[in-house]
Amino acid sequence: MRYTRDTYGEEETRALGRVFAGELPPDAVVAFSGDLGSGKTAVIRGICDTFRCSEQVSSPTFTIVNEYVGSRSIRHCDLYRLDRIEDMLEIGLDALFRESGTVLIEWAERALPLLPLPRYEIAASHGDVESHRRFSVQLCDADTASILSAPAELFRRKA
Ligand SMILES: Nc1ncnc2c1ncn2[C@@H]1O[C@H](COP(=O)(O)OP(=O)(O)OP(=O)(O)O)[C@@H](O)[C@H]1O
Ligand SMILES: [Mg+2]
Repeated sequence: MRYTRDTYGEEETRALGRVFAGELPPDAVVAFSGDLGSGKTAVIRGICDTFRCSEQVSSPTFTIVNEYVGSRSIRHCDLYRLDRIEDMLEIGLDALFRESGTVLIEWAERALPLLPLPRYEIAASHGDVESHRRFSVQLCDADTASILSAPAELFRRKA
């Protein structure tokens, strides 16, 4: 499963999230990559519309992980402020993947070595006009190349 969608405006992106959620198993992990403001949270709001918990969605920048309960349990992580794998282990990111419930991770490219398979990947990018965003979506397993761009400097720093 792999496709690309273009959206013009936040509401179209949210609608994309609602449609995507329709195919999402309860224990799915969804890894989002993409620049600041590329629409990751907008997709997540759409996913959470489908599971009736979107009014709870806020960017978990300071808490790192938010939990929403609607028709299913959803954990929403934002790794923007974490750039070391050690810090991600400290907040229990790997444990989160073993628990039941849906996990949605923004800036997931920072945690690439920790991400489980299979997983869904959504790479968001800015388009050529202000409201244009492009989303590449795939189901990734052991035989699939990741579409999340790993920030090279993180791996350099570890070496
Ligand atoms: N087509 C679009 N899809 C989504 N958001 C759009 C679109 N066009 C404009 N926007 C605007 O871009 C911003 C996207 O914000 P959003 O929080 O979803 O991005 P993000 O990728 O989660 O950013 P961050 O990296 O800061 O978490 C919002 O202000 C939204 O209104
Ligand atoms: Mg966000």
